Amino acid sequence: MKKSVFYILILFGCLQSCKEDQSTKTLYLAHNMPQTHSVHKGILEFQKALRLKSEGKLDVKIFPDGQLGSEREVLELLQIGSVAITKVSAATLSNFVPEYHVFGIPYLFENKQHQFDVLEGDVGKSILEKGSQFWLRGLCYYDAGSRSFYTSKKAIRTPEDLKGLKIRVMNNQMAINMVNSMGGSATPLAFGELYTAMQQGVVDGAENNPPSFVSSNHYEVSKYYTIDQHSSVPDVLLIGTKFWDKLSKQEKKWVLEAAEVSAKAQKVFWNASVEESMSIAKAAGVEIIIPEKSLFQERSKSVLENFIKVHPEMQPIINSIKKQ
Ligand code: GCU
Repeated sequence: MKKSVFYILILFGCLQSCKEDQSTKTLYLAHNMPQTHSVHKGILEFQKALRLKSEGKLDVKIFPDGQLGSEREVLELLQIGSVAITKVSAATLSNFVPEYHVFGIPYLFENKQHQFDVLEGDVGKSILEKGSQFWLRGLCYYDAGSRSFYTSKKAIRTPEDLKGLKIRVMNNQMAINMVNSMGGSATPLAFGELYTAMQQGVVDGAENNPPSFVSSNHYEVSKYYTIDQHSSVPDVLLIGTKFWDKLSKQEKKWVLEAAEVSAKAQKVFWNASVEESMSIAKAAGVEIIIPEKSLFQERSKSVLENFIKVHPEMQPIINSIKKQ
């Protein structure tokens, strides 16, 4: 969406987080993924479950594809109460709620089981609630797999190959430090601007999970995909407290239950879409490179050390994650 339109919408309050008629409250939900992505399918399950549980008293209107702006812009719309719900990456969210930064630490989780034990356990739940201080209450986590590098002209086989390459990252300090620590030149850019930036050579590559790589068509402009799996930043479904606080106890319960249903469903959609995306990328001629991961891990160790220096208050969370 054009920035000017976005600000005009805010200014004149044309968007409302919720439309009420006598019998139904409609929650506005915006996200930046295409409709073929497992996130959108998970959100459809949220909509279905909420309608069912509330017997039509709560409904959801979905704005996908970044129609209402980038992740950052939509988070701001939640904070002022113009949009009720969104799904963003924990990396974007960490610019608003600092505790989410920890999920972007390179090679933090041992495997998916460890990751979801953490996310669905005490650490994950307390971080979801921390967001309320910033008007952004977390509802649940969605699987966003692991992120890996993709490039247009030159294959990345070892961290040395990143030297001199402009790699698009999310607007997030941890991601910037990680790419720079491995030798690349991190270039923050909104997801919606990346296809053209890759096509025009503004950046030489990017990093993401297979379903996002394929559903955004980035594979059309990238010849190489290097599965180094440097980070496993989850996605988060969240609700603005401006909206949440107006819900009755019963309505809150329906929203939380519907979020749980959608989180379970999204994981199933996710697993299927990882395999499917890899096949699509291969069939399109993308070279899939399986590198020596430990080389990338070694180079990115300084990211955690520097993070702790800047944020010593995050050490207990990191300890709990490692102990889990
Ligand atoms: C993932 C994530 C998105 C995020 C995107 C990005 O696809 O699920 O929420 O916007 O990465 O790289 O910007």
